[in-house]
Amino acid sequence: MNVVDIISKKRDGGVLSAEEIDFFVKGYTDGTIADYQASALLMAVCINGMTEEETSSLTLCIRDSGDTVDLSGIEGIKVDKHSTGGVGDKTTLVVAPIVAACGVRVAKMSGRGLGHTGGTLDKLESIKGFSTVMERERFVKTVNTTGLSVIGQSGNLAPADKKLYALRDVTGTINSIPLIASSIMGKKLASGADRIVLDVKTGNGAFMSNLSDASALAEAMVNIGKAAGKPTVALITDMESPLGRAVGNSLEVAEAIETLKGRGEERFLTLCLSLAAEMLCAAKKGSTEECLSMARDAVESGRALTAFRVMVIAQGGDPCQVDDTSLLPKACIVHPFVAEKSGYITEQRALSYGKAACELGAGRKRKEDGVDHSAGVYINKKLGEWVEKGDVIAQLHTSDADLLSRAEAYIAEGTKISEEKPILPPVIICKVNEQGVSSWTN
Ligand code: URA
Repeated sequence: MNVVDIISKKRDGGVLSAEEIDFFVKGYTDGTIADYQASALLMAVCINGMTEEETSSLTLCIRDSGDTVDLSGIEGIKVDKHSTGGVGDKTTLVVAPIVAACGVRVAKMSGRGLGHTGGTLDKLESIKGFSTVMERERFVKTVNTTGLSVIGQSGNLAPADKKLYALRDVTGTINSIPLIASSIMGKKLASGADRIVLDVKTGNGAFMSNLSDASALAEAMVNIGKAAGKPTVALITDMESPLGRAVGNSLEVAEAIETLKGRGEERFLTLCLSLAAEMLCAAKKGSTEECLSMARDAVESGRALTAFRVMVIAQGGDPCQVDDTSLLPKACIVHPFVAEKSGYITEQRALSYGKAACELGAGRKRKEDGVDHSAGVYINKKLGEWVEKGDVIAQLHTSDADLLSRAEAYIAEGTKISEEKPILPPVIICKVNEQGVSSWTN
């Protein structure tokens, strides 16, 4: 087989065989295929697309390029949840304990944030002493005894994706549905769960800014799951404005804990309960209605909070910070962003708020950067709320006063106030499963 023939075939709109895709992924991962050849093929895929079969073959090659996690030592059906990334997206911190509190073990491998989207590991590491590194054997044992554990992905999980993603990032080939779908699902399939629940974001703060692209991505991933024998469902959810009130690591942990204590923002809680219900359904705990009421009860009874607290202790974290969130890392500078006129907040762009939090130190501009756990944006007045001139719309948290002006410019650019009350989009837009797309009642 010859890589030039493979590139030419895709350039001319041909369909690659499973063997050709395998030859390419193995060759690129072991270095026998050069970056310039891989770039040419990725660009041909971006332009000409891939069939369902090609996308599935690519996903399986990515899955098999490194370690695959064996979760068979964990009792019961293992359900994973994945979000395509957003601003203020701390759902894992709430959903995983709810599901564990309902008797379904959660063995979650998460990632770090990059750019304006945050990562679960960075959030959890805001808790003093919390470790996201664990030997595989201890991970399995911890999940079996405590019901829940969240750790970082193994270094050798889907190495083909690491190389391909880095190349896509610098060759204008990120935005291709088959490439995104195979990248996400390759890692999910390598992570060992039996079933997968996806939260596919749409809106200005998401990878997929419009609904039709988000639906196409969700459908592609559901089809991959089906082909791989791992039933997958996706909720398509709103990312036009930040999720909840907090954007930034320790601020989001505090919000997640408050939500588990029953004091969550309504839209955020709705999303968490719905994702938890989908995971419980996938684990065959009952109908959607029954699972939703189980999830609600886990929060109202305090059992989900207990599951979170138990996880924190098991991973070396300080439970006092769970009991009293004011003990979490705090920024030394908190700067108010005030309304310059009275009216309704008609726009609160997720992307702008995410960039502001990143500027303040909450996110990474490059993979190697560290994060300031205390930095971020707290939103006092959400989209659709009325504000009086001079009211504090948001608080900017940082350790460095020099970072404030750029962050404030992002918040100003992303916030609009006007006389007319806006109609808020639903937090969950629709559901995609093997039967197709169905509407959703929030
Ligand atoms: N997230 C991934 O893991 N891969 C992509 O290609 C895009 C988002």
